[in-house]
Amino acid sequence: MIKAASRTHNFTYAIRNIVGEAKKLEAQGKKITYLNIGDPVPYGFQPPPHLIEAVNKAIKDGMNGYSPSVGILAAREAVARESCSRGVNITAEDVIITSGASEAADIVLGSMLEIGDEVLVPTPGYPLYTAILAKLGAKEVPYLLDPNNNWEPSIEAIQASITEKTRAIVIINPNNPTGAVYSRENLLKILQIAEQAGLVVLADEVYWRMTYGEPAPPIASLVNDSVPVITFESLSKIYLAPGWRVGWMKLSNAHLMKELIVAIRKMADARLCSACPPQYAVAAGLDGDHSYLADVMQKFKERRDITYNRINAIDGMNCTLPNGAFYLMAQVERLHGATDEQFILSLLKETGILFVHGSGFGTKAEDGYFRIVYLPEPYILHQVYDQVAEFVKHWPSYVTATV
Ligand SMILES: Cc1ncc(COP(=O)(O)O)c(C=O)c1O
Repeated sequence: MIKAASRTHNFTYAIRNIVGEAKKLEAQGKKITYLNIGDPVPYGFQPPPHLIEAVNKAIKDGMNGYSPSVGILAAREAVARESCSRGVNITAEDVIITSGASEAADIVLGSMLEIGDEVLVPTPGYPLYTAILAKLGAKEVPYLLDPNNNWEPSIEAIQASITEKTRAIVIINPNNPTGAVYSRENLLKILQIAEQAGLVVLADEVYWRMTYGEPAPPIASLVNDSVPVITFESLSKIYLAPGWRVGWMKLSNAHLMKELIVAIRKMADARLCSACPPQYAVAAGLDGDHSYLADVMQKFKERRDITYNRINAIDGMNCTLPNGAFYLMAQVERLHGATDEQFILSLLKETGILFVHGSGFGTKAEDGYFRIVYLPEPYILHQVYDQVAEFVKHWPSYVTATV
């Protein structure tokens, strides 16, 4: 039997793993309602036509070879242009196009960390960072996002977690799984800590335009010239095109990370390039009309409000109002000795509704959090919350069979 490397034992990717359980039930004939997928496409959303045309045209025009490993110039220039318009003064030289924000994070962390180096990661947080750090033999140091303060990062927790080995801090804003959009004040405090401790700020801003108020300010726009910031963005969420795998990194204060950037470029060279034709959608998207998004956000807002109101109306459940992305963290207040995962699996078995347990994002199993993707149509959401309310009412009787 061929063995797997032990570093792969150090993480699980709950979002996809839990789908395995749902698929088993589906194979037995159970109807599953998926509220676990961070992808708007299965819920009826599609990339705007002008992006699709740009990709089609690129293929028809013969742009089917490798691109430069840092990406096509038109895409890099468009990213730089948009960044400058948001107060992040970079040029195309500071942009590298990647296979989604995921590859950008993988390349940066792989270029930066030695075994045992520490990286501060938000908890709850999107598990990509945990997975990459486990692969690299680096240490994830979780910092708390506070459910009693709209899931804002706990500045004290960040400060207290810094050691001599801390190299970077990951900020996910707007956040997955909480949907929180952080206050400018907290972002400034984090920058201050990063400056004092000599950290690189890794800013995951893939949802930045997807907010219900003002767009989230880029943390790189708040920085002085002494904190290095690497921002990850992509077409996946804002342009509703996750399957195209187009993202990028933006290097702010590049003068502070010259050696790192040489390493990043070397790593980018080694994987040749990201898929070439979809890169042509970057300039089309960033320079183009964004009115489609107002429509999308209006739909999301209705679905968020239904979710928020219906969850809070269930006896024994609560949640806070998210301000961005398309996720909401709910809490079941009485687990009666079960774990959050047991609760979610039991709910799945009884109702066919699939959420992701909070411990998959780093919350404590006994805290009872779970993430809802509220992208389905309103009538489906109402049916879902009717069933969840009924399930919670009878949870004490299910729990004995579960634990
Ligand atoms: C916070 C966050 N970062 C990154 C990603 C991955 O983005 P991409 O598709 O650009 O790789 C996701 C996907 O769900 C996410 O939620």
